[in-house]
Amino acid sequence: MARLDGKNVVVAGGTGRIGEGLVRSFLLEGAQVIVPVRSVSKEQRLRSYLGDVDSARLDCYLTQVGEEGSIREFRKRVLEDFQRVDLAVACLGCWYYGYPLHRMPFRDWQTILHDNLDTHFLFMQNFLSKLHDQNDGMFVMINGSPSEMIIPEEGATSIVAAAQAMMSRVLAEEAKAVQVRIHSLTVFNPVRTRDRGREVMPDWVSAEDLGNYIIKLYTGTAPKLEQTIHKIYTVDDI
Ligand SMILES: NC(=O)c1ccc[n+]([C@@H]2O[C@H](COP(=O)([O-])OP(=O)(O)OC[C@H]3O[C@@H](n4cnc5c(N)ncnc54)[C@H](OP(=O)(O)O)[C@@H]3O)[C@@H](O)[C@H]2O)c1
Repeated sequence: MARLDGKNVVVAGGTGRIGEGLVRSFLLEGAQVIVPVRSVSKEQRLRSYLGDVDSARLDCYLTQVGEEGSIREFRKRVLEDFQRVDLAVACLGCWYYGYPLHRMPFRDWQTILHDNLDTHFLFMQNFLSKLHDQNDGMFVMINGSPSEMIIPEEGATSIVAAAQAMMSRVLAEEAKAVQVRIHSLTVFNPVRTRDRGREVMPDWVSAEDLGNYIIKLYTGTAPKLEQTIHKIYTVDDI
């Protein structure tokens, strides 16, 4: 029996560099995987990457995660079609660089807040609430080194990553009285994603490794890093 047989897994950001690898790992372990997609072309790109995997249990729904009405409709359709959610993963956002903060255009600031925080908030509001209603399930947020590191001219990335890390800590505190598990995975090295091709270091984790680590967390077999904020530096950690 595969480790996620019979489990419904929602991956927000499943069309992204890391997200597609998570989707792959979850499908290989028997999960029903559900991905909100912003466009048909993004869905096609994801499906072509999964060409060698049985994707009969992958369902994609055209959705704007960062728009309240659209994510609410997505939640409604997911629950109509699958009734429950066992694992929800948020792998959302974008990197920003180019300006010191005092020169950053306001429209760029608004975009990065939207892509990196509004999306996380709305996904969490719609799906973590379902896990609380069920009193069961696991919610995972993927984060990166900017949450603890300042890089000049990339400061906005650090600000939103730090806010995202605090969001996960708040969620973990608020879930203490229920059987819902919250994890924030902060990956400090770059991740071996398909777009990087061969330009990678041997100790970087791959997106699929990260998916496998999440599966181990779900099944209670992951090596202990930290209780709520898990930090992953190299492939040896997982
Ligand atoms: N890549 C790395 O080496 C690395 C290393 C450590 C940590 N991380 C962390 O991993 C997370 C994901 O990174 P990634 O490299 O996979 O990024 P990515 O390839 O840019 O993917 C980000 C995902 O977020 C979605 N997204 C962004 N803005 C959105 C919006 N406004 N509405 C709906 N969806 C939106 C994208 O949708 P579309 O597909 O439609 O564009 C995409 O699916 C980030 O938190 C990052 O800090 C990445």
